[in-house]
Amino acid sequence: MEHIAELTNTTPAQVLGTCSFYEMFKREPVGKYVVNICTNISCQIMGGEELLHHAEHSLGIKGGSTTADGLFTIEDVECIAACTEAPCLQINYRYFHKISNDQFDEVIADLRAGKRTDEIPPHGTLARIRQHIPEDRRAGNADPAATPEPVWLSAHAEPAEGEKA
Ligand code: FES
Repeated sequence: MEHIAELTNTTPAQVLGTCSFYEMFKREPVGKYVVNICTNISCQIMGGEELLHHAEHSLGIKGGSTTADGLFTIEDVECIAACTEAPCLQINYRYFHKISNDQFDEVIADLRAGKRTDEIPPHGTLARIRQHIPEDRRAGNADPAATPEPVWLSAHAEPAEGEKA
């Protein structure tokens, strides 16, 4: 913080303020692959929490930590702007939409095997990244009939006695 403050003619406190605000700035070493799992509202409704728990179990670490081999860091993150594609995650900021537990395991196995290196370079590689949500699935364009209903919604479709108007 002090060194950057010197370089930018600011104070260490200002540098820390910026660094702590943007999650892309890391203050501790992270794995070769940083897995950001969204558990914000749309993803939570569509299974984001369960996906996070699966990832933690599968990799044997808790969110916010890194595997002993230094390959994977899991982060529990706020909305990553792909709400129509919930549940979703990013690996080194590359998007994976509507991802199932099995698909998660498949991607992790590929990365362990050294595959997908063109698609997902090591964390810290400078690149411009854009996500691509198909036109018919973008916010406001999605066909409600083609969207699965969240389990909790159908389970609680009938209002409770005290909630009836
Ligand atoms: S809530 Fe997960 S991407 Fe928006």
